[in-house]
Amino acid sequence: MRDNFKSSFGVLVAMAGSAIGLGNLWRFPYLMGTNGGAAFIIIYLVLVFLLCLPIMMSEFVVGRRSQVNAVKAFKVLSPKGHWGLVGVLGVLASVALISFYCVVGGWTIDYLVHAVSFTLPEQGSSEDFFAAAVSTPWRTILYTYIFLALTALVLLAGIKDGIERYTKVMMPLLFLTIIIIAIRSVTLPGAGAGLEFLFKPDFSKVTGNTFLNALGQAFFSLSIGCATILTYGSYVKKQEKIVKLSSLTAISDTFFAILAGLAIMPAVFAFGISPSEGPGLLFVVLPDIFDQIAAGGVIAILFFFVLFIAAITSSISLLEVSVTYLIEACRMKRRMAVLLSSAVCLVLCTLCALSGGVLSDVHVLGKTFFDFFDMISANLLMPLCGLFIVIFVGWKLGRKDFVDELSNGGTLPNKRLYNAIFFMVKYVAPIVIAVIMIFGWL
Ligand code: PHE
Repeated sequence: MRDNFKSSFGVLVAMAGSAIGLGNLWRFPYLMGTNGGAAFIIIYLVLVFLLCLPIMMSEFVVGRRSQVNAVKAFKVLSPKGHWGLVGVLGVLASVALISFYCVVGGWTIDYLVHAVSFTLPEQGSSEDFFAAAVSTPWRTILYTYIFLALTALVLLAGIKDGIERYTKVMMPLLFLTIIIIAIRSVTLPGAGAGLEFLFKPDFSKVTGNTFLNALGQAFFSLSIGCATILTYGSYVKKQEKIVKLSSLTAISDTFFAILAGLAIMPAVFAFGISPSEGPGLLFVVLPDIFDQIAAGGVIAILFFFVLFIAAITSSISLLEVSVTYLIEACRMKRRMAVLLSSAVCLVLCTLCALSGGVLSDVHVLGKTFFDFFDMISANLLMPLCGLFIVIFVGWKLGRKDFVDELSNGGTLPNKRLYNAIFFMVKYVAPIVIAVIMIFGWL
């Protein structure tokens, strides 16, 4: 019999684990601060709930209704045509994304190891330290492999005994830890400027770009377009409530993103540093700050622990996409499927890991391997897969089946709400995703 998530809470933590990741930590706080603070949050929430959530539910519906892997799901729901290719896109997107995600995951382990042994760089030397971490081959390779191996280990145990069991422990710890760090950060002298940066509503900063940024961020943050939600959905029991689970996932994801802002920005401002985003923020700016605050050593440990957990619960969901596919399409045992998909990722991860050093001069379409995989996943494969999923659900699967799945075969009320969600999926979502894609490329 096919494995399943045992409880609703198990599904929720797994989905939230996938959603909460590096995007929440290294991008959201900066976006929020530079795009009008509280004004940005309002826009972000509206876009998440009105647009991105319906897209997420579409993925969920395809998975739960078919109860099979990403490629077969489309074939089961629509035997005619070539819709299975949408699933192929999803599998490719997940592989491309995990290839560089594991490298960053590796850095988090590297920093965690240094934090625990209190050997993180001293103030002023964190830039060199980071440069060494990403360019020393044995270091990036070793930690990337450890990260991938840990991801694979969880998956070896399956859905219920692996993913559900471990994320159930990791996610509450993740929230608890980020709250502790946030409290430390907002109680620093001079933290007020950071709070102002994060929250002060400033509608004059809201431009067309704000909406695009918010959309792109919401899309990536909710893990849409990699068939992860689809794959997890295929392991969800028929009595679980899709609308509720998806909404709770989006709420926890946004809540965590705001907590991440509280954990990071007040500290940054307290030291008079100008805010930034991306790896530089997490691996250069913050270590500098940890070196200067009281109990900074402990906060550093907690912080890199948060990064690690956030990253691994996302990579678990990413690798499971190809694992489920291999198990069912090639009739493999789970163990074999995990080994094979990890082996493929290992090769790609190696290329990405080395692109900070020995392979830094090797370019694909003008980019290092790391940036190349980042680009094709976020700007091409994910939006494309998301686009075809909503087109499939809106125009092929149709309203009757969609509403039937959301309402658990008509046993849940709120028919109006389900119809409204379907409207968004069929007409609005395709246009919006096309816009994200076009602007992503421009
Ligand atoms: N949502 C994750 C993050 O914010 C990234 C991710 C995307 C994970 C797609 C799985 C699938 O970092």
